[in-house]
Amino acid sequence: MNSIRKAVFPAAGMGTRFLPATKAQPKEMLPLVDKPIIQYGVEEAVESGLDQIIIVTGRGKRAIEDHFDISFELESILAKKGDEDTLSEVRRISDLGTIYYIRQKEPLGLGHAVLVTRDLVGDEPFAVLLSDDLIYADVPCLRQMIEVYERYQCSVVAVERIPRERISGYGVIDARPIEDRIYRIDDLVEKPTPEKAPSDLAVVGRYILTPEIFDALAKVKPGKGGEIQLTDALRWLLKHQVIYAYEFEGTRYDAGTTLGFLKASVEYALRREDIGQEFGDYLRNLAPSTHQSPDTPGD
Ligand code: G1P
Repeated sequence: MNSIRKAVFPAAGMGTRFLPATKAQPKEMLPLVDKPIIQYGVEEAVESGLDQIIIVTGRGKRAIEDHFDISFELESILAKKGDEDTLSEVRRISDLGTIYYIRQKEPLGLGHAVLVTRDLVGDEPFAVLLSDDLIYADVPCLRQMIEVYERYQCSVVAVERIPRERISGYGVIDARPIEDRIYRIDDLVEKPTPEKAPSDLAVVGRYILTPEIFDALAKVKPGKGGEIQLTDALRWLLKHQVIYAYEFEGTRYDAGTTLGFLKASVEYALRREDIGQEFGDYLRNLAPSTHQSPDTPGD
């Protein structure tokens, strides 16, 4: 049996960076090519062997529940039409593990979102995935991290090297290398200025956490932005447990920003068997003409 069974997806945020698209729909449901972004994360968890998915929702997030539920009407229409491919895809989505939903009633931060899952997770190690961080990899990022967890039996956070000018958007670690891609963390700081950042190793949205993190989350005071920060709880946990960082193999897209979302959409579309080739041709033809702004008079 997999040593990690449960995956927590914080999904209660307001999605203000994607307004007006997120005024009446959850940002987790924005389609990347033709799949809602949260589905990529749930599939990563399932492919990594986790079978219990816990989604932390809030107001206006019902579409997430409907998405992972069975839709009898849709299935019967597709069956009548004889559209077997779409039918099996729609069924596959509702078969993605057991999904539990819990509400975060107040927007008190990522750490608080994880804390509300305490009773559902119980006394076992678990994963946290931020679906904004999309990771394309041969071996799913979470699977890679579980292997590190199984060797060291301690919390593991995913890290990536980020240029200094963008480091202040992340939790940043102070750490020493232990072996290829693995670091032992000495300290962490949430969203430091570039001058204060202890390294260029930034935490990205994949964590494997020991259950003691809940004691830490219950103890830490609101930090950056007045929110309960997961980074601060990890810092507290460091006083009692060893924590490792793992530089994953794969490509991460920051789909939490419009530009990152667009880049991810283009690259995921290019990888698609059905439309990739044609879309690639389209982009190549488009490229020369896009050097001119629409206001530039033509020749
Ligand atoms: C959160 C965490 C931060 C981490 C980041 C990864 O920040 O607080 O430590 O580096 O996710 O995406 P957010 O992006 O929610 O502001």
